[in-house]
Amino acid sequence: MKNILVTGGAGFIGSAFVRHMVATYPDYQIICFDKLTYAGNLDNLLSVSDETNYRFEHGDIADRECVASVLRTYNIDTIVNFAAESHVDRSILDPDAFIHTDVVGAYILLDEGRKHGIGRFCHVSTDEVYGDIESGYSTEDDRFLPNSPYAASKAGGELMVRAYQITYAMDTVITRGSNTYGPYQYPEKLIPFFTTEALDDRPLPLYGDGKQIRDWLYVDDHARGVDVVLHCGESGEAYNLAGENQRHNISVTEDILELLQKPKSLIKHVPDREGHDRRYAMSAAKARQLGWRCKFNFEAGLQATVRWYVENEWWWRKIKTGEYLDYYRQQYAKRLAAVD
Ligand code: NAD
Ligand code: TYD
Repeated sequence: MKNILVTGGAGFIGSAFVRHMVATYPDYQIICFDKLTYAGNLDNLLSVSDETNYRFEHGDIADRECVASVLRTYNIDTIVNFAAESHVDRSILDPDAFIHTDVVGAYILLDEGRKHGIGRFCHVSTDEVYGDIESGYSTEDDRFLPNSPYAASKAGGELMVRAYQITYAMDTVITRGSNTYGPYQYPEKLIPFFTTEALDDRPLPLYGDGKQIRDWLYVDDHARGVDVVLHCGESGEAYNLAGENQRHNISVTEDILELLQKPKSLIKHVPDREGHDRRYAMSAAKARQLGWRCKFNFEAGLQATVRWYVENEWWWRKIKTGEYLDYYRQQYAKRLAAVD
């Protein structure tokens, strides 16, 4: 590996991966390729922008010419695909962009990568492909039962990765991460959304009874997990990157309020998300065999994250304008009005 294309590297987890790789491997060229959608943000990469082993290229993974050109220009030998539409609620409002990027984009990237003769293709996926897990833990050979358009589009992308491994003998690996949190996460996902809303004493719209369970993974642990699978994963295999920190949403919400010393009265139980999965839980045993394990426990990770949002208003205040407010109104206005 020498010239690594990191797609979606200006997003939340992709930028943590880029920062990690630039610092850890001075001999690699890290080329971030990103469409800069609403979720892409070059502020996330300010700390590496002057590094000599880092470059940024603006482009869409579903644009064949653009992908072919960047592969040629930088003589890319490795692709790590983080690029995706990633928010379940937005996929319910309009699945179109999810099919474009998570399915078609993944295919174009694989196809151009194959034609260019790249080495390893590492595809970043999610625990949501397994669907709702009433009890026990998903292992890598479990069947896919995606329930949201987001989860289905990620499952579609993964199946195309599998097909390219088997049909064209491409060298691929897949990671399936659990719910990730940490600095630089776009404030539409539970933890950064509730933290920034609570800071302004605004209502926190908790879906349904708030007893849904998510397994939380700190972003730096996720980024390191992708590095471990990229370097040590067996060709053709998928690896669960599970935080092994299961929490009810209500408990996470109360922890955030306690850290900010804000009242529980900010919590508003609003009508539930359509098709809402109750629980995700995966076994991390296979990734552990590669030597990966989480360094952050949830309490320390949440504290560091909340503190980061308190100290970095410059980063999130300018996001919470324009398109963000349109989305907020579409997603929450009726829900909040229903419980007023
Ligand atoms: P994000 O929404 O913060 O970032 C996505 C990035 O992809 C953005 O920079 C965006 O501009 C870019 N992008 C979108 N469409 C593109 C396109 N067509 N071409 C090029 N770039 C494009 O997402 P994230 O939370 O950092 O997630 C990264 C990856 O990890 C995704 O594949 C997601 O499915 C997966 N994942 C996320 C989580 C989580 O909890 N956030 C958990 C498991 C897996
Ligand atoms: P989210 O951060 O959107 O991640 P995902 O849907 O990929 O798990 O949501 C995490 C959990 O928090 C999920 O069960 C939905 C819930 N949630 C709310 O209750 N209210 C909200 O406003 C949001 C964004 C999420």
